[in-house]
This record gives sequence, structure tokens and C-alpha cells, in this order.
Amino acid sequence: MKKKETKHQVIRQLSKDEKIPYDLLLLADETIEAINKYIFDSDIFVLEQGNRIIAVYVFQAINKNEIEIKNIAVIIDCQGQGIGKLLLNDAARRARERGFKTIIIGTGDAATKQLYLYQKEGFEVFDIKENFFIDNYPEPIYENGIQLKHMIMLKKGLK
Ligand code: ACO
Repeated sequence: MKKKETKHQVIRQLSKDEKIPYDLLLLADETIEAINKYIFDSDIFVLEQGNRIIAVYVFQAINKNEIEIKNIAVIIDCQGQGIGKLLLNDAARRARERGFKTIIIGTGDAATKQLYLYQKEGFEVFDIKENFFIDNYPEPIYENGIQLKHMIMLKKGLK
């Protein structure tokens, strides 16, 4: 008799010998060159459903107290189902367990959905990296019909 398939979800760290999920990472960052600037010094966490990786986040320690989520992405057909929120909470829990005091995330000034989600999950704006998307990318990037210029930096204290 055929076994009924269950949609079991697990978030786990990707080991260094596993393939980097660039397709997913490219949903959150424009180019492989930009991703390669941080990916090799970071820890990658993936959400697996069955044998399929459907979401990712990337962690990079800044110093002994602060850690940054450099990339977070959910495959398009699974967005808007609470997975982004789940990943942010998982990241905060793991950062806290590793002894970090603050978790940081940055996003584009026109990324309204992301800014909404991060603030709803307790992140607060603390800095703006002016002209980040103009100075660091070869082509203009548009989101919601607006050209991205500045990177909005948000942080959340981990108690
Ligand atoms: N417009 C407005 N709000 C939305 C939308 C939408 N299209 N979709 C979801 N939301 C809301 C949800 O309603 C929810 O709010 P609620 O709790 O009030 O209902 C909230 O946003 C969170 O939604 P989730 O379902 O948890 O988010 P999702 O699983 O879609 O993940 C993410 C969010 C990671 C931004 C995902 O949409 C994605 O991969 N986007 C493309 C890549 C990207 O932009 N990544 C972030 C770049 S910044 C960085 O990587 C550091």
C-alpha cells in the first residue's frame, strides 16, 4: 500500500560540502557576485519540506555580540504563508543560543513588504547605508516600481 506523504518541515544548517542554493538566494539579492561577497564566511540555514529546500537564511557574525541575516528567501509559490516569519524567529532563537545580543537585517528603502515584516517581528530601524544599491550594483534595481537607493538597517535585541 502506498504511504501517505506528509509535509514535514525541518530547518537545518547546510553543511559546507552541500550545494549553495543560489536560485533561492537570488530572490533576495541581485547577483551571484554580490552573494559571493558574504556567502563563504556565513552559515546557511535551509527549510526543507520533504526533500525539497523551500526557504533559506544566511547568518554572518559581525562581532561577538552582533549577527546579521545577510539573505532570507522563500520560494515564490510558498511566500505569504508565514514561512518568512518562521525563519526570522528561528534565526533569533539560534542567535540567542549562540550568545549574540543583537540580530541585524538590512533591506532596500523601497522594500515595503520586507520592512513591514521585519518591524512586525520586533526589528527597529537604527541606520541607513546611503546609496548602497547605487554604489554596490552595476545596474539600477527596482522594487515596487521605485529605484532602490539606500539600505535600511534594522536590529532586534535578543533577551
Ligand atoms: N504584500 C504585503 N504583505 C505581505 C505580502 C505581500 N505580497 N505577502 C505576505 N505579506 C505579509 C503577511 O501577510 C505577513 O503579515 P501578517 O503576519 O500580518 O499576516 C507578513 O508579510 C509575513 O509574511 P510571511 O508569509 O511570513 O512572509 P514570506 O514567507 O513571504 O517571507 C520574504 C518573506 C522572505 C520577504 C519572502 O517574501 C521572499 O522570499 N521574498 C523575496 C526575497 C526577499 O525580498 N528577501 C528579503 C530581502 S532582504 C534580505 O535578504 C536581508
